Amino acid sequence: MTSPATTPDNESSSDTSVPLIELRGVGKSYGNIVALQGIDLRVGAGEVTCVLGDNGAGKSTLIKIMAGLHRQSEGQLLVDGEPATFDSPKDALNKGIATVYQDLAVVSLMPVWRNFFLGQELRRGTILKSLDIEAMRATTIGELRKIGIDLPDVDAPIGTLSGGQRQCVAIARAMFFGARVLILDEPTAALGVKQSGMVLRYISAAKEEGFGVVLITHNPHHAFLVGDHFVLLNRGRQTLDRAYGDITLDDLTTEMAGGQDLATLTHELGR
Ligand SMILES: Nc1ncnc2c1ncn2[C@@H]1O[C@H](COP(=O)(O)OP(=O)(O)O)[C@@H](O)[C@H]1O
Ligand SMILES: [Mg+2]
Repeated sequence: MTSPATTPDNESSSDTSVPLIELRGVGKSYGNIVALQGIDLRVGAGEVTCVLGDNGAGKSTLIKIMAGLHRQSEGQLLVDGEPATFDSPKDALNKGIATVYQDLAVVSLMPVWRNFFLGQELRRGTILKSLDIEAMRATTIGELRKIGIDLPDVDAPIGTLSGGQRQCVAIARAMFFGARVLILDEPTAALGVKQSGMVLRYISAAKEEGFGVVLITHNPHHAFLVGDHFVLLNRGRQTLDRAYGDITLDDLTTEMAGGQDLATLTHELGR
C-alpha cells in the first residue's frame, strides 16, 4: 500500500491540496512577440491569487489562457490536478472557470434581473416556453441579498447601478451559474474608494465560501487587502511569487512600482 501523503489524488476535486487551476511553465507568443514566459501559478479553493503587473506585463494574456480564449504556446494547464485543454471559453466554463471582464457584458437599458439571466433565461411551460419573469426576479433578489447587496429595485436598468454594484452583480451571476473559479480582470480599476471597498468585501466573501479567485489588478493596496498569494508579472515574466505573510505591503508596492528602477529615478530626480 502506498502512503496517501505521497499519492497524488486526482479523483477528488474537493481535496484542498490539489489546486483548482495550475499553470506549469506556461508561455505564450504572438508571432515574434513573447507575451508570457515560464509562468507557474496555483489557484486554490478558498484562496485569492493576485496577479499584478504594469500595462503590457501579460495579465490579459494570462487570463485568456485560463478562460479558454487563447491556447498557451508552451507549458501545461491543469484543472483539479489533471492536464486540460480548452478549445473555447465554453470549455473553461464547463470546468467551472468563469471570467468577469472589466468591460462587463451588460445591456444597460435592460433590468438588473434580465442581465443576471442574460443568455440563460428561465422558462416555464412545455410548449410555448414563456420567460419565467417572476422566478428570475425572485432569484436575482435572493442571490444579491445573500451576498449583502440590497438593491431597491431589480427592475431598474442595470445602467443605473454604480460600477461597484454592476461588478458585484456580474460576480454573483458567475457564482450562481456554477463557477468554482472566478477570474476578475481589474474589477476595481474604474472605481472610487467606496465602490472598490464593496467589491473587495465581496471578493473576500467569495473566498470564505470556498471559491478560488484570481484577482488581476495593478493596485497593490487592493491586492494586499484580500490576497493570499501575489504573483507579479513584468514584461511577460514572473518576477515575484509570495504568500501573504511572506511580504509586506511596502515591499509589494515597491516591487510593483519597479523597485530598483524607481530608486534610480528617485536619485536621478534628487528626491
Ligand atoms: N493579440 C495580440 N497580438 C499580438 N501581441 C499581443 C496580443 N495581445 C497582447 N499582445 C502583446 O503581448 C504583451 C502582453 O499584453 P497583455 O497580456 O495585454 O498585457 P496586460 O494585460 O498586462 O497589459 C504586450 O506586449 C502586448 O502588446
Ligand atoms: Mg490587460
